[in-house]
Amino acid sequence: MKVRKAVIPAAGLGTRMLPATKTVPKEMLPLVDKPVIQYIIEEAVNAGIEDILIITNRSKSAMDDYFDYYPELETRLNQAGKDKELSEVRRAADLANIFYVRQKETKGLGHAISRARRFVGDEPFAVLLGDDIMRSDKPVIGQLIEAAEKYDASAVGVQTVATEAISKYSSVKVSPLEERVFSVSDMNEKPTPAEMFSNYAILGRYVLTPDIFDILDRQTPGYGGEIQLTDALRTLCLQKPMVAVDFEGRRYDTGNLRGFLEATIDFSLEHPETGAWLREFLKNKSHTL
Ligand code: G1P
Repeated sequence: MKVRKAVIPAAGLGTRMLPATKTVPKEMLPLVDKPVIQYIIEEAVNAGIEDILIITNRSKSAMDDYFDYYPELETRLNQAGKDKELSEVRRAADLANIFYVRQKETKGLGHAISRARRFVGDEPFAVLLGDDIMRSDKPVIGQLIEAAEKYDASAVGVQTVATEAISKYSSVKVSPLEERVFSVSDMNEKPTPAEMFSNYAILGRYVLTPDIFDILDRQTPGYGGEIQLTDALRTLCLQKPMVAVDFEGRRYDTGNLRGFLEATIDFSLEHPETGAWLREFLKNKSHTL
C-alpha cells in the first residue's frame, strides 16, 4: 500500500466562528502569518503527498486564488526588492498539485468525502480535516500512513479526550496491537458518555481505502441528519482491517474561537519573528492579570 493522494474537506459553513467567517472562509483565517489551510497542506506535503484535492463550496474561491500565482503582486514585490515576501507568496502556490471539487449541497462530512471518488480512483488516500491543525515533530498524517502501510489497513488518528467531551467527537472500540497502535472493531459518532466505546476519539486524520466510496454511496443520514463519515467507517472496520493510531502531537480545533486562539498563541511563541517578543509581552501582561 502506498499513499500518494490526500483529500481535505473544506466545505463547512464555519458557523462556529461568525461573524468573522461570514465572507472569509474559515480555512483562510490567518494563523500567525499563514492561512489555516496552508498548515494542513504543509502537513500532507511533509508526509510525502503531492496530489491534494480540496472539497470546497461556492463561497470558498479565496482558497483557489491563494494557491494560484498572482503576477501583478509578484512583479511589484520583485521591483520593490521584497525577496522574502516574494518567495513566500510563490512557495504557497508551488506547494503541491492542488485540485478542487465543489460539494454542491451541505450534506455532511461523509457526503463531502464521497465527492473525491474520481480524484482518488483505486488507491488508498489520506484525509485531513480542514479545522484540525497539528503541532508535531513528525507529520501526524505520516504517522497514520506508516501504520496503514505496515498493517495493510485503513487508519484513524485518535487521542483520548475527557468523558464529558466525547459527545463532540466519534468514539472508537480498540484493542492493542503495539505501542500507540490499536485494531478498531467499532465506532460511533457524537456518543453520549453512556454510549461511548472508549475515551479514544478520532481527531481529524484518516487513511482510507477506496472501499469507503461504495459504502458512502449507500450510507443513510446519521447524527444531525447528515451523511456521517464515521457511520461509513464503522461498516468499513467491520469488513476490513482498520487501525487507530494514538498519534504524537498536539491538535487544535481552529474551527472554534478558543482552539483558534490557543493555536495562535502557541504558533506565535514558536515563530522566529514573534516568539521572543510575545513571550516578553505575555510576561509583562501577566502582572496585570
Ligand atoms: C468531525 C467528525 C468526528 C471527529 C471530529 C474531530 O466532527 O465527524 O468524528 O471526531 O470531526 O476531528 P465535527 O467536528 O465536524 O462535528
